[in-house]
Amino acid sequence: MNGMSVETYAYVRDLVHRRSAIVVEAGKEYLVESRLGPVARQAGFASIDDLARKLREGERGPLLTQVIEAMTTNETSFYRDQHPFETLRTKLVPELMKARASSRSIRIWCGAASTGQEPYTIAMTLREHFPELATWSVHIVATDLNSAVLARARAGLFKPIEVNRGLPAPMLVKYFERDGADWRIKAPLRQMVTFQELNLLDPQWSVSGPQDIVFLRNVLIYFDVPTKRQILGRVRRILRPDGYLLLGGAETTVNIDDAYQSVRVGQGLCYQLKPAALPGRSAHVAG
Ligand SMILES: C[S@@+](CC[C@H](N)C(=O)[O-])C[C@H]1O[C@@H](n2cnc3c(N)ncnc32)[C@H](O)[C@@H]1O
Repeated sequence: MNGMSVETYAYVRDLVHRRSAIVVEAGKEYLVESRLGPVARQAGFASIDDLARKLREGERGPLLTQVIEAMTTNETSFYRDQHPFETLRTKLVPELMKARASSRSIRIWCGAASTGQEPYTIAMTLREHFPELATWSVHIVATDLNSAVLARARAGLFKPIEVNRGLPAPMLVKYFERDGADWRIKAPLRQMVTFQELNLLDPQWSVSGPQDIVFLRNVLIYFDVPTKRQILGRVRRILRPDGYLLLGGAETTVNIDDAYQSVRVGQGLCYQLKPAALPGRSAHVAG
């Protein structure tokens, strides 16, 4: 595949930003070439320039979807970073089970679920440590912009290399079954999670409030500050007053949205709304 012109690179950066909010930084030509080369080849174009020419004629259809999806980074693993799931187990769920004792309902949204390891880790944590939740209404909704990774997540089928990364052996034995050379999440766990497409940039989200826990991990890092602010502002409106937000290790609300306060739990951090930011309070919160 031939290289890519300066114009094509500028166009792709702008397109990806407009459609997904992902910022492709200057000097990342190699990244665009490695991600879009296969897309161009598969669609029968001789170069990425030709692919871009076609898209400029009309930004729509499967080609547009393939380009945007190819530019997402879907890196993930079971129990990634561990602390968030420790926090879930030791603080968030016990606390919410007390607070929701009468409604017996917990709603969790995982907003950048990739191939599903994160929402399935949440489901495993609940199953393993809170058997009493079996009689509760527990909704785990997992969303992502990328329909291809969501299809994999829905299938719940993982390669040995994926289950060998972070998943404790007893959990593999208990919650997965062999499927050829791969491992498939057993049906009861798979059925705890509902997957759906959601672009965090879209003006309408298919997920609404009130949510008790929002996982939005390792996705804000790809966005610029105004987009982070906009998304955190929208999360704030669907998060319950006593709900929790979990971000990735390199992400924070600090200096982006002051309506949140961080809560330290062991070695991890999670976020809650400051009392002044709650609906009905007089303090004005921008966003
Ligand atoms: C690095 S993965 C993080 C997966 C998981 N949360 C974790 O921490 O392991 C980032 C995910 O964000 C998704 N993503 C990127 N831009 C998005 C957007 N605008 N809306 C929704 N999802 C997006 C990507 O498709 C990708 O699957």
